[in-house]
Amino acid sequence: MRTIAITVNGISREVTIEENELLLNVLRDKLGVTSVKAACWRGECGLCTVLLNGLPVKSCMTLAVEAEGKEVVTAEGLYTDERARKLQESFVEHGAMQCGFCTPAFVVTSHYVLSKNPEIDGDDLKKELSGVICRCGTYYQIYDAVMDARKHYRDKNI
Ligand code: FES
Ligand code: FES
Repeated sequence: MRTIAITVNGISREVTIEENELLLNVLRDKLGVTSVKAACWRGECGLCTVLLNGLPVKSCMTLAVEAEGKEVVTAEGLYTDERARKLQESFVEHGAMQCGFCTPAFVVTSHYVLSKNPEIDGDDLKKELSGVICRCGTYYQIYDAVMDARKHYRDKNI
């Protein structure tokens, strides 16, 4: 066991972990960050995606100890970003969810993608989001929501 310092959604936290404990388990079970979902536990579904120092990682494939001293952002933490709020509103406007189980991972991944390239085209967007699986099949509504939200990431005033 060891105690690590980690920043989660802008808040400094200290948490005691096992050396081999997954970031996914620590976020959900020890820090109460329940937007992070899991289905496969082996890096295939992408539902456990979080941003680690700004880059998307699958938290079921990441040891918690790897996050020591780093910043984790999940869907809960995006509320401070006006662009990400608009992105989430776009998901609602486009009906881009059925059960919603995949939504946090799509929002986090899309936020990363649009931050990197707000001019992205539809084909590249599909490639960028291909690491997250929606079992309800709402892909086209998700693509529409994200494409529509590009304008907010181009807008330097928000
Ligand atoms: S639970 Fe992590 S990729 Fe599926
Ligand atoms: S909306 Fe159900 S998994 Fe995507």
